[in-house]
Amino acid sequence: MAPIALDQFQQCVVGFPPERSLVVSACAGSGKSTTLALRTKALVGRWAVPADRILVLTFSTRSRADLTSKISEAIVPPAPTPTVATYHAHALSILRASGMRASIIARRDAYKLMKELLTSLGLLNDGDKSARGTVSAPRGCCARGVWCMCDPNPDVAGR
Ligand SMILES: Nc1ncnc2c1ncn2[C@@H]1O[C@H](COP(=O)(O)OP(=O)(O)OP(=O)(O)O)[C@@H](O)[C@H]1O
Ligand SMILES: [Mg+2]
Repeated sequence: MAPIALDQFQQCVVGFPPERSLVVSACAGSGKSTTLALRTKALVGRWAVPADRILVLTFSTRSRADLTSKISEAIVPPAPTPTVATYHAHALSILRASGMRASIIARRDAYKLMKELLTSLGLLNDGDKSARGTVSAPRGCCARGVWCMCDPNPDVAGR
């Protein structure tokens, strides 16, 4: 495939000095991931930043797959490619590396777990209509000795 001719804004991002911070804010489909892939290539190729010093984080597994594919198109082996991960997967790897038993669960499982926990503590009677709605959306919970993070993506459960 012919290389994409970047516009002036994309070129500015790709060529931005590596030691300076940069925020790119642009609308959907405007070329952010393409730019990020080529920026990563420039960091590794032009500025010799070691690939293991670059971490590409994104929200969804779909976006991670897209970025992984764009970055591997941009950086040709044997050049090393940096880690591309979702925030949740990366946070999980940090927790596991620190020795913590942890897993990511889907939102519906987090609700179920919280309900079981509250019921076992006598704080929620199963089937108690008045208690409905008391299990609010947990962003994280600690139950059965396992710290759980709730991912908005249902497809990450069990990872
Ligand atoms: N300068 C450019 N000229 C022509 N096409 C481009 C250019 N930059 C990106 N594209 C193309 O535009 C499309 C969208 O690009 P990209 O996926 O990088 O956008 P995005 O901002 O990351 O999108 P999303 O918001 O969906 O994540 C792709 O097909 C990409 O190849
Ligand atoms: Mg994108």
